[in-house]
Amino acid sequence: MPFEIVVGAQWGDEGKGRIVDLLSAGADFVARYNGGDNAGHTVTVGLQTYKLHLVPSGIIHPHTISLIGPGVVVNPLTLISEIEALTASGVDASPSRLRLSHAAHLITPAHRALDAAQERLRGAGQIGTTGRGIGPAYTDKTSRRGLRAEEMLHPERFVLRMAEHLTAANRTLEKVYETELLMVEETVLKLAGCAEFLQPYIAEVGDEISQALKNGRRVLAEGAQGTLLDLDHGTYPFVTSSNPIAPGAFAWLGLGITPAERVIGVTKVFQTRVGAGPFPTEVFGEEAVRLRGTGANPWDEFGTTTGRPRRVGWLDLVLLRYAGRVNGLTELILTKLDILSGMPTLRLCTAYRAGGRTYERLPLGPADLSPFEPIYEELPGWSEDVSGVRCWADLPLNARRYVTRIAELTGVPVSQVSVGPERDQVVDVGE
Ligand code: IMP
Repeated sequence: MPFEIVVGAQWGDEGKGRIVDLLSAGADFVARYNGGDNAGHTVTVGLQTYKLHLVPSGIIHPHTISLIGPGVVVNPLTLISEIEALTASGVDASPSRLRLSHAAHLITPAHRALDAAQERLRGAGQIGTTGRGIGPAYTDKTSRRGLRAEEMLHPERFVLRMAEHLTAANRTLEKVYETELLMVEETVLKLAGCAEFLQPYIAEVGDEISQALKNGRRVLAEGAQGTLLDLDHGTYPFVTSSNPIAPGAFAWLGLGITPAERVIGVTKVFQTRVGAGPFPTEVFGEEAVRLRGTGANPWDEFGTTTGRPRRVGWLDLVLLRYAGRVNGLTELILTKLDILSGMPTLRLCTAYRAGGRTYERLPLGPADLSPFEPIYEELPGWSEDVSGVRCWADLPLNARRYVTRIAELTGVPVSQVSVGPERDQVVDVGE
């Protein structure tokens, strides 16, 4: 089946957006299957930079159709502003090229207010959410009281349901969180306007993908966030509220078990994380600034959605092996190799040590990593700027050794390496 899945193999922000953009060149459909506008994808094409949160980055290729699947939670205000921004920069984001699943749940201003209030109440135990209302929207979904996109097709009922939802949220905001209330009438009116705008976009996305695959069309499924933020398989409770892992694509797009030609895990050549939670290979001080950058460049390690500086560290192969397993990865694509240029010595975490024992695999998953100390293998770095390299043989020997070692130690082949943010700054890995 011409079906491919792209997932983040770390804690999100691996550079999936640019890889999806790259792979979209050969895809007919690009479908996003989880999360909401907590994701942030930056794609640079020439002088134009696109910042996308909800719309799959495939939209930038004029021949693709972009689909937002039933497992995604959608803030209508964000979606509309993204559609408008794309249109303004000359990208066709009309319903002929972009469709929203009827079953996708809506994120409302109430969910955002609840997200902020819940985080405040967590105090020192804060997750560091993006504040986009993701958790509360998925909570309403699993509590079977959420609003789905299809409700926007029935304006009169939509207005009533939305007013009920906002009024109920106000009760919680007042009584439980003792915080500011939402203006119900004003908000309903605004969302009714959004509903009218989005009506033509609503479709049966799962069926469209199934039909496309039957007809031999190429479909690329795009996971947001990353493996270690997975609700069930990540560093719980410091996770998001959806399933970014590749098997999520089947359930959350409404597909049966469909053979995937490729399951591609995207990972940086080092490790980053935003928000709280365990991070065994984290580094601080000057070493951290070296990996993160200062924020002067758009590709420095500062959140696309929140602008927060990301925590940074050495690549953790115990966690990457785990990502290989829970996703069923058939290959890895590594990003940001260029950032390591000029570092005399590089480190790869090959195993953990705890209580006098060595662990190459996690004994109880990644939720509690506090007992573990990373064991590092040191590799010599390279001094050359690699951003202009387009051919494997032209990469410095130590850069090739570093990449090859990652494949060896994870047991997953590496197919490509990116050496800069531009579309063409990618090297196919050779022998
Ligand atoms: P939420 O998804 O906003 O509820 O946030 C839960 C956790 O996931 C927090 O640690 C966020 O920083 C993190 N997170 C959510 N979305 C992303 C993303 O797209 N990239 C990186 N981290 C994310």
